[in-house]
Parts: sequence; C-alpha cells; structure tokens
Amino acid sequence: MKKIGIFRGLFDPITAAHLEAARHFRKKQRLDAVLFLCEKDGGIADGLARFLMVKKAIRPYRCLAITEKLTAVMGKEPAVLNESEQLKKKSEQVRKGDFSLLPACLRRDAIESGIYADPLVRNMVNEHRYRHSLSVASLSRDIAEAHHLDSRKAWLIGMYHDIAKGLSEQQTDDYIKIEKPYEFSYPQAVWHAWVGYYLLKHVYGMKDKEMLRAVRHHCLGDDGSPLGMIVYLADKLESGRGYDSSKEIELAKKDLKAAFELVHQQQADFLASKEKV
Ligand SMILES: [Fe+2]
Ligand SMILES: [Fe+2]
Repeated sequence: MKKIGIFRGLFDPITAAHLEAARHFRKKQRLDAVLFLCEKDGGIADGLARFLMVKKAIRPYRCLAITEKLTAVMGKEPAVLNESEQLKKKSEQVRKGDFSLLPACLRRDAIESGIYADPLVRNMVNEHRYRHSLSVASLSRDIAEAHHLDSRKAWLIGMYHDIAKGLSEQQTDDYIKIEKPYEFSYPQAVWHAWVGYYLLKHVYGMKDKEMLRAVRHHCLGDDGSPLGMIVYLADKLESGRGYDSSKEIELAKKDLKAAFELVHQQQADFLASKEKV
C-alpha cells in the first residue's frame, strides 16, 4: 500500500517555501506522496482561489497532489504536516507585495486576478494614497459599468494605478532610468506612472496590455483607450480630491470621450493658472 502524508494549511497563498517543505516532509517520512489539504475558511483569498493556486503550483511534481477531504486518503493514520508560522509568514510577505516568494507559475494570475490587490496596495503606499486608490478603483468600476465595459479590470487598474507612489526618490530614480530615461524632462510628480507600469510588468509579471497601458498613461492622460480614459477621469474626479466633481462624473458615465476632453481642458487651465501666480 502507498504511504501518503497530509500537508494541511491555509496556503494563502502557497509559496515556493511550501513546496520545499512538502518535498522535505515526503523525504523525511519516506512517503510515496504528499496530499495538500487546503482549509476552506480563514484566508484573505477565498477557499476556491487558494485551492486552485495550490493545484497549479504542484502540477510539475508527480509526488504532490491535492485533496478536498481527508476521507479521500487511503490506509491507516497518515503522517500530517501542518503549515508552520514561518510558512504563514512567507504567505503574508507575498500578500504584502513580495511576489518573488511565489512559484513562478502563479505570479501573473496573482497580480491580474487582484486576489491580493488590497493588502498589496495597502502595504506599498501610505494611508492617504491607499484611500485614494480605493476611491479611484470604485469610481473606475462605476464608470466602466455605465458603459458595459470590464468593471473588474477597471477596478483593478484603479487599485494599482499609484502603486509606485510609495517608493523613495532614489528607488523611483533607479527605475525611471531603466524604464523611460528620455522623459526625464517631465516633472518628477508624473514619473510614478511609468515606474508603476514597470513594476507591474517586470516585478509582478502582469501581461495584460490593456491594464499596463492604462497605468502607464494615467497621469498625463495620453491614452485614449476606454480603460485609459476611465482611470484618468477617476483619478481626477474621485471624491477625496475635495471639490464637487458630480457633473463631470455624470458626464463620464454618459459620454466618456466628452468627459475626458473636458477634464483634460480643466487640468490644462488649472496648470496655466498656477504658472501665472
Ligand atoms: Fe498617479
Ligand atoms: Fe492617483
């Protein structure tokens, strides 16, 4: 009869360290296979999402499998490995933004599904910027819904658009040299859009061109794609900006392009008035 062990935990999410622990457990206990048992409740991500991540992460390993119920295990008392505090800490580090700890096959899914968008953004930027990101995300989703566009993507772009705002000047400087050195003439206040694009693409593994483009151009508003216009508008019109933008929001829900042009003009007028002072 095959000797099987159980690896029980939240796996929120599974990390490379979890895979290593499972393989070590198999070796130490001389097991034929290790079955992951993913607890349904208690995670930041829901049980199904965590289950699917484990399933994908263990696919390359013939000696690792996943089960939903312990009754599926054949034979007598199996050896059990419980997810340690140290492993839970690794998962927490991922949720806070260190995707290098994830198995490579999960990185793109994790960033594009937005499964950890909230804790990630909360950790990457300050409280004020986090509140602003939530508000931009919510307004982006509302405007997208009004136009029957992908509201999930719109929400996500809103969450991620200022992801680089929490970096130090030195970090921003280092990234901008890689990403867009010829646009150094632009004020430093707008660099975070390019750096955010770079982080999402190269550090977090995002491949969705529509989302990347919208983040990259959100500051200058030089992207006329529907999602690009939406995040630009939501960024300028969200309630935390402290002025009555209800008319512009109403217009954005009816006529995206007209609102985009109007807000562009308002921004240009505002900047011109500041230069006169
Ligand atoms: Fe921004
Ligand atoms: Fe913003």
